Amino acid sequence: MNDSLLVNSHISDYLSSLQPDLPDFLENLYQKARTDRVPVIRREAQSFLRFVCLDRQPLKVLEIGTAIGFSSCLTAEFLPAGASILTVEKDDARYAEACENTAAYAADYEKRRGCGCPSITCVHDDAEAFLTTLSDRFEQFDLIFLDAAKAQYPVYLGLIRKLMKPDSVLIADNVLQEGSVAESKFTVTRRDRTIHLRMREFIEMLFRSGEYDSMMLPLGDGIAVAKLKRV
Ligand SMILES: C[S@@+](CC[C@H](N)C(=O)[O-])C[C@H]1O[C@@H](n2cnc3c(N)ncnc32)[C@H](O)[C@@H]1O
Repeated sequence: MNDSLLVNSHISDYLSSLQPDLPDFLENLYQKARTDRVPVIRREAQSFLRFVCLDRQPLKVLEIGTAIGFSSCLTAEFLPAGASILTVEKDDARYAEACENTAAYAADYEKRRGCGCPSITCVHDDAEAFLTTLSDRFEQFDLIFLDAAKAQYPVYLGLIRKLMKPDSVLIADNVLQEGSVAESKFTVTRRDRTIHLRMREFIEMLFRSGEYDSMMLPLGDGIAVAKLKRV
């Protein structure tokens, strides 16, 4: 199954085949999300998130856009002992399902690994309101995974900036929007113009504001990675 929106299916299949298998719980949750058409992080992007977690060993993780909790559980799988994940979702049904899934995942993790799972706290709120609360509390995070309303990314970034430390990493998913972001706005249907404009604005903020060192990866639906620029 082609899991990429940007590269040929045989390349995507090959890249996916290189990934280690997920534990059964996570694989089943991934398949359920796909069956139920819940948009969750694609396999190629999963491998990147996994690598960053293993490499950076972040202790405090913030996720914006929980859906049913798949990426929260996936992230927890690769975090060090004592790490915590805070994740926000505004949709009632998805929030409720995420609470159930993350609790079941923690039980599965503890059974498999014989030790406590990193804590996953699901928050039922609007992302912008929650980010504002976190910045008012002067909270900071080692890793931030941005995966919610795409048209709000520029607004979110303004708030996320305040939650970043010099060594924090920001990962933003779906930034290439099936490649349309690389096209002229005149080729995009009127319906998709706002998202095109906002995503371009977000990318400009990351790459041209002088505040971040950033890179773009054509994995899944496009991933942007950024750190605050060293002064
Ligand atoms: C792409 S899905 C997240 C997928 C999840 N990160 C994963 O990979 O398993 C995006 C989620 O963001 C949520 N969302 C959209 N706008 C939001 C907002 N303003 N505040 C909080 N959540 C929002 C949607 O309801 C949706 O469940």
